[in-house]
Amino acid sequence: MDLYCVMGNPVEHSRSPWIHARFAELTGQALHYGRRRIALDGFASGVAAFRTDPAGTARGCNITVPFKFDASAVAQHLSPRAALAEAVNTLTFRADGVHGDNTDGVGLVNDIQLNAHVAIAGRDVLLIGAGGAAAGVLGPLLAAGARRVVVANRTLAKAVSLVQRHAAVALAHGARLEAQTLDAVPGRFDIVVNATASSLSGDSVPVSADVLQPGALAVDMMYGPAAAGFMDWARMHDAVPRDGLGMLVEQAAEAFALWRGVHPPAARVLSELRAQLG
Ligand code: ATR
Repeated sequence: MDLYCVMGNPVEHSRSPWIHARFAELTGQALHYGRRRIALDGFASGVAAFRTDPAGTARGCNITVPFKFDASAVAQHLSPRAALAEAVNTLTFRADGVHGDNTDGVGLVNDIQLNAHVAIAGRDVLLIGAGGAAAGVLGPLLAAGARRVVVANRTLAKAVSLVQRHAAVALAHGARLEAQTLDAVPGRFDIVVNATASSLSGDSVPVSADVLQPGALAVDMMYGPAAAGFMDWARMHDAVPRDGLGMLVEQAAEAFALWRGVHPPAARVLSELRAQLG
């Protein structure tokens, strides 16, 4: 049996095993997808233990908090998008070594375009945050044809460094890319993406509602209670709120396609998951 899993800490509440089991069922793929809680200082040995699991043949795994950086160090080959993000959420074990990729950004872009039906090409996008979550999605947002992307962060230096790292990609796609502090975001945006952890510390949305174009799409990369504050804020200011559940399913779909060579019906699985979560 081909084995896959999600590795993280904590990982108990991850929806990934359910999502991948459903993908496998709907595409007729024989595989098992589990979850593994990895010791905070033991990522490499966690991967090694999975690869020697006698239950089957380990083919790959997804990586969640806080190991996306460790995973890029474990990979012998990095996809260009994972190298740009400096983070890996998908490992694939092949004959020539461990391949690292990052499907988070494509997951967000696909959710915005395919599920929320909002085109990114030609649009102005505000990305709030400059940590690992923001780094995973900036390249794909630029590649999707955004006209202008502003990265706003509490710590300006981190936004500047993220923007500098993506300068060539922005140029290649003809996008304007700039860094700002949270209180100096210039103008209004068609799409606002919250990639900060501010809600986890109980803080309110860290930017003024003036950044929202009327009818803007406002996406929080989190879901469940962690996204509620941002969704309420968006609703209150005539924006269209969206949580990160669609991104979660779409990044999983992209990983599944990398591993199995078949693209699963992500929209169907997303609506099943939403129904399940109420
Ligand atoms: P992740 O992998 O989830 O992105 P991270 O790399 O620690 O986690 O980044 C957290 C992001 O949330 C950063 O952009 C951080 O801002 P700083 O770079 O200034 O630390 C942002 N963040 C966390 N708490 C915040 C808060 N209370 N208000 C605004 N931004 C916050």
